[in-house]
Amino acid sequence: MNKRDQLYEGKAKRVYESDDPEILIVSYKDDATAFDGKKKGTIKGKGAINNRMTNHFMKIIENQGVPTHFLEELNDRETAVKRVRIVPLEVIVRNISAGHFASRYGVEEGLVFDEPVVEYSYKNDELHDPLINDDHAVALKLASREELALIRAYALKINEILKAALLEVGVTLVDFKLEFGKTSDGTLVLADEISPDTCRFWDRETGEKLDKDRFRRDLGGVEDAYLEMRLRLLGE
Ligand code: TMP
Ligand code: ASP
Repeated sequence: MNKRDQLYEGKAKRVYESDDPEILIVSYKDDATAFDGKKKGTIKGKGAINNRMTNHFMKIIENQGVPTHFLEELNDRETAVKRVRIVPLEVIVRNISAGHFASRYGVEEGLVFDEPVVEYSYKNDELHDPLINDDHAVALKLASREELALIRAYALKINEILKAALLEVGVTLVDFKLEFGKTSDGTLVLADEISPDTCRFWDRETGEKLDKDRFRRDLGGVEDAYLEMRLRLLGE
């Protein structure tokens, strides 16, 4: 599989065309940003860890019946994926209060919800990814009602799959962000990444943060947190 023209460069990944028009190659960077890119840094080794961890989760999710864009891991940092048109929604699932949920609604972090919360943000850095509801998404033609219903069902199923996989390695899944895309035949599939950049992981015993909040909040031990998650999930 050969990399051809670069199609897009995001904050944490580059996307390239391949020899096959239906297949793209994603390349994960060590760059880290927060607060709409206002805070910038590097997390050494992150690209390789996020690539491998994402693929690990994508395989489990696909095996449990949710279609994904994953095709083949090419090397440490690069993966072949199906070409999709990204639905411009950040689909966030929360099991425990943290981050923007806590600040927006004025509650402490760590409140365990009776049921998971699914919310959408409109993916638009200039507007600071505003929170939107189903009606807004339909009005803005970001997705149809049917697609939103499927996205919600997939997001809740993925939550159960990830919670179970993480429980086995002593990690509580606090919240996470997903992105979906549509393939050329219109199939809705899970896309983007699932990594410490896009999830909150808390150690089950100590509550220690094992994710990008260590970078966002200047807590130190950022690289070690990514390495610890790699060790627990990938065994190395
Ligand atoms: P939030 O509490 O800041 O809204 O974040 C919820 C989850 O989404 C958290 O696990 C981190 C993830 N996330 C992203 O992946 N990208 C983003 O741009 C933001 C703001 C959050
Ligand atoms: N990656 C996002 C940004 O730079 C924010 C985050 O993950 O907190 O905007």
